[in-house]
Amino acid sequence: MAKVMIVGAGGVGQVVVHKCAQVPEVFSDILLASRTLSKCERIAARIDRPIETAQVDADSVAEMAALIQRFSPDLVINVALPYQDLPIMDACLATGVDYLDTANYEPPDEAKFEYSWQRAYQERFREKGIMALLGSGFDPGATNVYTSYIRKHHLNEIEELDIIDCNAGDHGQPFATNFNPEINIREVTAEGRYWEDGDWRTTGPLAVSRDFDFPEGIGPRRVYLMYHEELESLVQHLPEIRRARFWMTFSDNYLKHLEVLQNVGMTRIEPVLYEGHEVIPLKFLKALLPDPASLGPLTKGRTCIGCVAHGRKNGKERVVYVYNICDHEACYREVRSQAISYTTGVPAMIGAKMMLTGQWRGEGVFNMEQFDPDPFMEDLNRYGLPWQIRDLYAPLP
Ligand SMILES: NC(=O)c1ccc[n+]([C@@H]2O[C@H](COP(=O)([O-])OP(=O)(O)OC[C@H]3O[C@@H](n4cnc5c(N)ncnc54)[C@H](OP(=O)(O)O)[C@@H]3O)[C@@H](O)[C@H]2O)c1
Repeated sequence: MAKVMIVGAGGVGQVVVHKCAQVPEVFSDILLASRTLSKCERIAARIDRPIETAQVDADSVAEMAALIQRFSPDLVINVALPYQDLPIMDACLATGVDYLDTANYEPPDEAKFEYSWQRAYQERFREKGIMALLGSGFDPGATNVYTSYIRKHHLNEIEELDIIDCNAGDHGQPFATNFNPEINIREVTAEGRYWEDGDWRTTGPLAVSRDFDFPEGIGPRRVYLMYHEELESLVQHLPEIRRARFWMTFSDNYLKHLEVLQNVGMTRIEPVLYEGHEVIPLKFLKALLPDPASLGPLTKGRTCIGCVAHGRKNGKERVVYVYNICDHEACYREVRSQAISYTTGVPAMIGAKMMLTGQWRGEGVFNMEQFDPDPFMEDLNRYGLPWQIRDLYAPLP
């Protein structure tokens, strides 16, 4: 029985609240806090057990710490934006409370994400005797656990790893992003980066692509190489990996709109002076685009996210593929969110459960692959994200 404080009442926050509420034997008390109180109240009204709500500016360490002291949770789940990671970690340090998030810190004025800022908390979290679990969404999150599960049970060593994220759903809108538009567009327009032979290699944004035949009737789709944060921790914790890459599908329509928006400067994050006001084009664009939460009732189709690992088992070459398929409409029926928020929110709840039940424990700052994958994999099957495993004939070229 534990008290949990969830910060962020967006698409992912809504799923985390629903899923924690479904497991009262672990999450006995829930507080949902966010910048806009009415959004917390709207989510709370849809849950069939009482939860508390509060307004908080998570950029303010003092406000966060005061709210933590008032509610005294056992764990803070941060599903606000990556910009809030550090102030929320500071508030957890000040109050001696465990921390979990789904995306690594990103400074608002620079489209760059890496673990160094959060790893800098390692000693202070250890000295305080508290734990931070970083990246407990799907990718990062379940993909890290898939990789350590393959390594534990199916390959003695992983030589090549490809994480492949496919959204084969359709929301019928001319252009929309399926999670926070600002974070999504910063990620997609960044240079591609992958690990090979002990070093990072850089490519132009979405400049490298392959065709991949997705299972269970989804079929062949073009996937584009991008940088993604789990590559950084996975090659650190599994140093045998010779090459690690991350791929994502995009529709031609999405790419066409993105190219135009980039060409006209709408994806820039430097302020522009407009009629005496400073405007950040990407933030203004976010205000124009559909709220990802509004896509829930519109989105049809499925997602397929998984890991292809190439290596050896008992000296024999093997290519193992572990994946989950998630149906947008089924997610909406269960928690009133589409599959992108669902596939992030369920692993956030499971990561929290691992910490609160003591199955995953430690003092300091951790990534998902540092713990035993088995109980997490069992819970993915149990709480709505069942996975499959199969052998492939060949790795991704
Ligand atoms: N690992 C994964 O697989 C994965 C996948 C998708 C997303 N994510 C991450 O999940 C997180 C949430 O994504 P989302 O799609 O739910 O985003 P979202 O819909 O934009 O929700 C973000 C929420 O955070 C709140 N917020 C923003 N700044 C705040 C502040 N200073 N203080 C308090 N609350 C604040 C927002 O408040 P307002 O409502 O007032 O704006 C909003 O409710 C992001 O960090 C994203 O990168 C991870």
